Amino acid sequence: MTAYENILVETHGKVGLIRLNRPQALNALSTPLFIDLAQALDAFQADDGIGCIVLTGSPKAFAAGADIKEMKDLSFMDVYFQDFCNTGWTHVTTIRKPVIAAVAGYALGGGCELAMMCDFIIAADNAKFGQPEINLGTMPGAGGSQRLTRAVGKAKAMEMCLTGRQMDAAEAERAGLVSRIVPLADLEAEALKAAEKIASLSLPVTMMVKEAVNAAFETTLAEGVRFERRLFHSTFAILDRKEGMAAFAEKRPANFINR
Ligand code: CAA
Repeated sequence: MTAYENILVETHGKVGLIRLNRPQALNALSTPLFIDLAQALDAFQADDGIGCIVLTGSPKAFAAGADIKEMKDLSFMDVYFQDFCNTGWTHVTTIRKPVIAAVAGYALGGGCELAMMCDFIIAADNAKFGQPEINLGTMPGAGGSQRLTRAVGKAKAMEMCLTGRQMDAAEAERAGLVSRIVPLADLEAEALKAAEKIASLSLPVTMMVKEAVNAAFETTLAEGVRFERRLFHSTFAILDRKEGMAAFAEKRPANFINR
């Protein structure tokens, strides 16, 4: 397996685990980190043996945001020409297999944005989410003002982006930002368990489910429902759909072959 400087990569059966690994900077998101992350995500996307990906950090920080030391001397022309916060940053949203964010500690700024780009977030009880860019004289640049607002509504998103206030795990769960909270010591095992369940199912269908749920954020209800129904119909062309229903009728576990 490729060795990276800013991340650690493992496989657990059919699950690919990526751990952000810049402990000296609380996993601050630097350009080299995003290059590593994109490469690792693409490798798992291309690997037929992988059905789900978990993205995690350390017990202290998922990621404390964009690397402020890397950013501090950039000019408007630098960030504009690089399209900073797009190239590399949003790569995870191009991954078609399900991606779970397992968040412990700080998920601030770009860290919160990266977690929200994943398909769902499982939070440790010490997780803290925030968009503190306002304290630096700037603002969210990787979707924070948009994804946080869709996740938790205008009132909380506006307050968090305007004041930099952090949400703890309990508030994040109440607000719908995270799917559930688990004790810090169980975070990785719980995220892997959810990922193993997803990876044991039919990959083409889990990919379609991801597409359908994501469509809810991009389209009208009528169009979204129509899109979902067409995807549902298309599962009837998949051997795994036949196998899943046959296995139910025959009272045996299904054996999905991703076809
Ligand atoms: N960028 C670069 N380095 C960072 C960093 C960041 N975002 N966050 C933490 N670090 C570094 C610190 O500079 C420190 O390094 P040194 O030991 O070399 O000084 C090390 O990580 C440990 O950090 P602290 O000593 O600050 O740790 P703490 O426990 O006292 O505080 C914290 C933790 C509250 C998260 C604090 O580190 C902090 O406020 N970090 C910045 C958070 C932030 O503003 N994030 C938003 C960034 S902007 C952004 O993300 C833009 C966007 O939308 C794309």
